[in-house]
Amino acid sequence: HARADFVVVANRLPVDKEVLDDGTVRWKQSPGGLVTALEPILRENTGAWVGWSGTADSAENPEIDGVIIRAVPLSSQEIAEYYEGFSNATLWPLYHDVIVKPEYHREWWDSYVEVNRRFAEAASEAASEGAIVWVQDYQLQLVPKMLRMLRPDLRIGFFLHIPFPPVELFMQLPWRREIVEGLLGADLIGFHLPGGAQNFLYLARRLAGYSSSKGTVGVRGKFGVVQVGFRTVRVGAFPISIDSADLDAKAKSRTTRKRAGDIRKELGNPKTILLGVDRLDYTKGIDVRLRALSELLAEKRLDPDEIAMIQLATPSRERVDSYKRMRAGIEQLVGNINGMYGTVGHPIVQYLHRPVPRDELISYYYAADVMLVTPLRDGMNLVAKEYVACHSDLRGALVLSEFTGAAAELRSAYIANPYDIEGVKDAIDAAVHHDVDDGRRRMRAMRRQVMTHTVSRWAASFLGALQATTDVTHSGD
Ligand code: G6P
Repeated sequence: HARADFVVVANRLPVDKEVLDDGTVRWKQSPGGLVTALEPILRENTGAWVGWSGTADSAENPEIDGVIIRAVPLSSQEIAEYYEGFSNATLWPLYHDVIVKPEYHREWWDSYVEVNRRFAEAASEAASEGAIVWVQDYQLQLVPKMLRMLRPDLRIGFFLHIPFPPVELFMQLPWRREIVEGLLGADLIGFHLPGGAQNFLYLARRLAGYSSSKGTVGVRGKFGVVQVGFRTVRVGAFPISIDSADLDAKAKSRTTRKRAGDIRKELGNPKTILLGVDRLDYTKGIDVRLRALSELLAEKRLDPDEIAMIQLATPSRERVDSYKRMRAGIEQLVGNINGMYGTVGHPIVQYLHRPVPRDELISYYYAADVMLVTPLRDGMNLVAKEYVACHSDLRGALVLSEFTGAAAELRSAYIANPYDIEGVKDAIDAAVHHDVDDGRRRMRAMRRQVMTHTVSRWAASFLGALQATTDVTHSGD
């Protein structure tokens, strides 16, 4: 086996399977931001990516140029227990403020342990002596410790892409100690926000009893420090971002602008286009914005002849019950609004439950006058940043939930508490009826943040800190 100096370990591989008309299979690089950011680093070094193909028992090893791909197979039972079960019906709701009730099942946990071990073994086989291994997200929180036991020579980083919950919630988890100890196998643990890092540091002290050699565990300057035996584990905040320049350029292209004009025409030239773009997930608050819209129409604060809303909802985790229920609820809300306020040929809400190609998505962003991002909880929310990156014209307004990581950076959005329906309505009303100059000022301020804080800067900052951290450890600190 070829070995790599830089190994990314993530639940998903960075490729999507494409079956052509003649039945041949092709693998295409996924359009995600993480892949885009890491791809140059994977190519410059000898890079490898360890992950799951997304289908049961797949023994296929897809290829992308210059990057070693190691597919970790999952059985259909493991998909049900490790992926749909423990990852997405236990950890996902627990880490997102228990918006739905997390389920705790011992078989799911056993499967999570087993699959994490398989990922750790695959990473160990892929990594050269002294390599850097970067483990991603909540599906793989046991991998850092398992990998360190197999390979003490490696430098191991971990980044959590979703929120890290308050201590009171995390303490529900029957396997809370194992998770904290699993993460502490890393040299550097990254969260989006300082609050997540604080929550974790507190738990490390309370559950694992680790304290710093100086007697304190807390965020000092940029980092918190946890002393685990002879090892120093650093904990810090690294807010992720997007490939801002790429979106900015694509949104400026003639094809985007032409397509955006056509979209407006197809909608019957409404004065205001409102847009929502989400994975169909109960954390995203799609119902919140639909309820707010419905009440604004009922109160005649919005004129049905002047607005059109587009809701793009990518299908996600469709076999998980809470996702099925939520989908039914949202489709009913869409039906209610259109039934009450639409006319034949002109519904108010255009709802697409399917993935939309990237170029088309950018045209929607560019066409939209008001972007609605109303999650009940979200680690970061890249849609908010993508919308801003698409508006070098300084047109448009962003309604943004205060419970997203993005709200810490995009202070000039119309910020609202998604649990406060009147507040959400006021924010939408203000965004729809905003003064043009005020709108330009807000968009300019948000663009200053988004255009300078890119996903490659995020990756460089995490990897720079990882390098520095392990140097300290290796010098016998
Ligand atoms: C979130 C998670 C990712 C996950 C993605 C899509 O962004 O942080 O780890 O890959 O959702 O969800 P899926 O279950 O389809 O991988």
